[in-house]
Parts: sequence; C-alpha cells; structure tokens
Amino acid sequence: MCGIVAYIGKKEAYPILMKGLERLEYRGYDSAGVALMQSDTITLYKKRGKVSELEDYCEQRDTSGHAGIAHTRWATHGEPNEQNAHPHLSEDHRIALIHNGIIENYLSLKKELLNRGYKFLSETDTEVLVHLINEMQQKNNVSLEEAVLLALANVEGTYALAILSVDNPDQLILAKKGSPLLIGVGDDDFFVGSDGAPIVEYTNKVVYLDDGDVAVVSPDKGLRIRNIRDEHALLKKPNYQLLEMTLEQIEKGGFETYMLKEIYEQPKSIRDSMRGRINLQKDIVSLGGLIEYEHKMVNAKRFIIAACGTSWHAGLVAEYLIESLVRIPVEVEYASEFRYRNPIIYSDDVLIAISQSGETADTLAAVDLAKRHGATVIGICNVVGSTLARETMAGSYTHAGPEIGVASTKAFTAQVTVLTLMALSLAQKKGSISKSKYHQLVNDLESIPEKIERIFTQEEHIQKIAQFVATRPNAIFLGRGINYPVALEGALKLKEISYIHAEGYPAAEMKHGPIALIDDHMPIIAIATEQLTYDKVVSNIQEVIARKGTVISIVTEGDTTVKGMSKFCIEIPVTEELLTPLVAAVPLQLLAYHVALIRGCDVDKPRNLAKSVSVE
Ligand code: M6R
Repeated sequence: MCGIVAYIGKKEAYPILMKGLERLEYRGYDSAGVALMQSDTITLYKKRGKVSELEDYCEQRDTSGHAGIAHTRWATHGEPNEQNAHPHLSEDHRIALIHNGIIENYLSLKKELLNRGYKFLSETDTEVLVHLINEMQQKNNVSLEEAVLLALANVEGTYALAILSVDNPDQLILAKKGSPLLIGVGDDDFFVGSDGAPIVEYTNKVVYLDDGDVAVVSPDKGLRIRNIRDEHALLKKPNYQLLEMTLEQIEKGGFETYMLKEIYEQPKSIRDSMRGRINLQKDIVSLGGLIEYEHKMVNAKRFIIAACGTSWHAGLVAEYLIESLVRIPVEVEYASEFRYRNPIIYSDDVLIAISQSGETADTLAAVDLAKRHGATVIGICNVVGSTLARETMAGSYTHAGPEIGVASTKAFTAQVTVLTLMALSLAQKKGSISKSKYHQLVNDLESIPEKIERIFTQEEHIQKIAQFVATRPNAIFLGRGINYPVALEGALKLKEISYIHAEGYPAAEMKHGPIALIDDHMPIIAIATEQLTYDKVVSNIQEVIARKGTVISIVTEGDTTVKGMSKFCIEIPVTEELLTPLVAAVPLQLLAYHVALIRGCDVDKPRNLAKSVSVE
C-alpha cells in the first residue's frame, strides 16, 4: 500500500531511488514520483501509472543530486493522477514529503489550513501534512525536526513519512506510525524503504522504526531517533539489526514473472518452513517460537483466527486441522469484520493472526483488540521484523522468502505448512492424536514438496485447460471439507489476476442457489480428491453435468469415476486428506496464472490491487 524509498549520501540518488521504486512497485502502481535535492532547490517529477513511465519521463531530464525521496502510490484519497501523486510540496517549495498510510482527521485539518489561507493542489490526505509542517516551522521558528514533531501531535491516522527540505539539504526526516519504515545504514549514507527490498543491495545493517518514532538521518551527523510518545522527547538508542533478505530472493531468477517463480518455489518454501521443526527420531514436532505459549494453547477454550484474503483461506484450512487433530473449537474471522463488531473475547482465548506481509491494517487491529481483552495473541507471518511479528506475544515465521507477486501463492502453502505443524505439535502435547496417525501425517507432510514437483510436470496440460477457461466470463470452484477453502482460494486467484468473475462454494451448497447459474457456458472447477465426502462430491458433480455445466476436475491419481465425467482433469498425487490443500492449491494457481497470461493481464501487478494492505 504505497512504497517509500529515500536516499541521502555521496552516491547519485536517482538510480538508487528508481531501482528501489521498482522493487516496491508491488505495494501500489497507480502513480510514481521523485523529489531530488539539487543545490538549493527541490526538483520534482511525477507521473501517473507505473514506475517505468516515470523513468521514461525523467530520461531527458536533470536527475542529479545526492539526496532524494520517491514514492509509488496505491490511491486512497483522490484518483490516480499527477496532482495526487507524491511527493507533495509546501507552498514555498522548500519541503517535499512522501507518505504511506491514511490521515484520518485530514478533512478537519484541511478545513483549518484552508481557513488560514493555504491552497491545496491535490485531493489527497497527505497534502495537509506538508502544509502543517511548514506552518509549524514558520509559526514557531523551529527546526524542521521540531516542526515535524509538533505537526504530528495534531495528526490522527497512520503514516510512514520521508521529508526533504531545502533548508536542511544534508538531512532526511522520517516518521512512522502504523505503516512500515526501515533505515539501511551504509558506510557514509542512509537508505530508507517501506521494506528491505530497496536496501538489501547496499547494506544489511538496518533499523526498523517503531510507532511514534521520528528519525533524522544525515551523512555527517548520523542517525538520531526520538519518539513522539515520550513526553520528554529523549533520544532513543537505535536498535541495529541484520536484514534477513538476499538480493537473489527478490529477483526473478530467469522466470517471466514473480508469480511463476513463486509458484515454482513452493517445494523449497515448504521444506524451509518445516526445516528444524520436525524431529523424526524423537517423534517431536516443535515450533520454537511457540514453546513458551504451548501450555496456554493446549488449554485454550477456543482459538480465534483473524486474517484477510488468502491468509484467511489458510485460516479456514487451519480450522479443519485444529478441530480435527487438537479438538479445540476454532472460529475464523475476517479481521476487517472482527475489529468492528464488538466481539466476545475471553482471556483464555488464543487469537492466531495470519499475514504474509505482517502489515495488514485490519489484521493488526484484530491483534490489538485481542490483546486489550487479555487473550493470548500468536502471529503466523512471513516478513521478519514486520509489525505483526513485533506486536504479537509469540509466533512462527513461514520462511517462504519474499513474496513479490501481488497474488499470494507460496505464502499460502507455507502458512498451511506451519499451521499443520502447529496442529500436530499441539495434538501431540494434548494427547489428542494417536501415534500412528501422527506418523502418517508427518511422513506425508515431508513428501509434499516432491508431490508438488510432480504437479509441475502437468503445466502444459494446465495451459490447455487455461485456453478454455480464458474464453469464459465466469467460473465456479467447488470443494468440500478441508478442500472448500482451496476452492475459495482458486476462485480468488482467478478473479484477482485474470479479472474473470469467479466464486468458490462448498459443493453441497450449489443446490441452495448457485446451481441456477449453471448452463453450457459455465466452467465448474471441482476438487474431487479421495476424501470422506468423495461420493457426495461425485453426486454434486453429476448435478452440474445434468445442467450442462462443463466440469474441470482435480482428482487423486488413478481416479476414473470423476475423470470420466470431466471435460478436463488434473490428477494430483495420493495425499492424506488433511494435507490435500497443500497439493490441490498448486494446479489452481497455475490455471489462474495461464488464464491471466492468455488474457494479456499483468499477473504480477493486477489492476487496482497492492500487495500489502496497510490501510483499512
Ligand atoms: O499480507 P497479508 O497476508 O495479511 O495479506 C492479506 C491479503 O491482502 C492477501 O492475501 C490478498 O488477498 C492477496 N492478494 C491474495 O492473493
């Protein structure tokens, strides 16, 4: 949700800023802009659309300078155009500012500033900040840093800010509340990013800013941090950390797109998510980060899982896993709904928040709410050092590596892997699983990466099926039991990257309404693997065929019954029922991917979306 990059030092800022923007483009691509410090002026370039359009525009222009800030936008307030693109300038053009987040009281601030004669050039919430800071500085005759502290005291909402000023050309001011921001510390320069991607090429020494932090970076004077929540505004000791990211992880590595690379990385990311957590000799599954809270988890009255999008689907899979193996009730909540419906939360509840980015605003709000009610709060997250990782009491990382394609793929299977390990470990501690069942599941879990590799051999076949689906305006995905969330995930993948309208349903729900949609134009993608309800799914498929629907099935290798009823069929290796989501999700990812390619869509950056939804 908007990407922020900034640089100050001895190098040319522009190439660093542009490369950084490209790497953060997954956070939003409605417009892009850059402000450069050039002698005693700020030079500003902005363009609607993707970063490449800004680069084309800047090609023949002066891009010199050793300090600058740059922004790639996912529009919240105001349509995606050049006026609304960041950076925004103060009226005297002495301050430039970029922002990720939402200023909730911007309307009242704007009204006051308008009354005091300020003129606004954009419809954004951000522009109030630059005028407010400018006003504070002039009115109180203070340094820019002081003006930022004073201005932010009046601001409600979330922000990550980078500020450049003509009066202090040797420094950048940064501020964070609710949106991520980290500082990379070089030998004689500083790199700033919404995440580590724009920084990793130059340094792995980083400082993650905390909420309320206002930092000043200067090549000569170093790094200084104060926090607006500290009434004495004392200097804080920076907490230097090692950036856990490699350049290789954030490059395409020979693949056409990030999404395809990430689909193909799943055998590795699942292995990495299991590594060191299964001890076959000692018969133990253990998630190091949860040990301290295992007792609370095993004795919990209830688990509440809060998440959004694909992570919510992983939560639905976990509901089946935990209820079936640990025998503790689970409620899976859309974090966005949970936070506003005054939910009943007991102190012996365990809330599990699942998020790839660890920055999803609604999921973080659910965490905050559960903490305030005294519940135990656990995080499952992919991004090391993210807000979720820091705001939860304990948790487990998914070790999928950076996921850059906006459509989540490897993060989903890594989340399901970690949640499976969690369920196994808790079931073992609680004594709710037999030794033989436990061994069966652990052995099968270890074989999942190899099973996924076998699915990749069917990519050409899946491409042919995609040719068919790509011509249809709608699609329905069906699954039952633990594969119902996989049907939802398959539908989400197809709609978000190919823009085909798709819905996921539990197969038996068809006759309660959706079956009215079936005709000879409607493809039905049915997950009909070996499972308790296999015969029921067969009957559901027959009901579809009787209404001339075209069936595309995902079946277990060797199946003849459903295969015989299907126009197309994808076979997946025999897998324990509780683990089938890990395998069945993969052909659906590939199907959505190829449909989107055939339809000429930008699979890595689907329209209107952003990877990390750090605003409500
Ligand atoms: O980073 P998170 O896992 O919290 O993100 C949640 C959703 O925004 C995300 O899964 C989204 O639905 C993806 N685009 C799905 O592919």
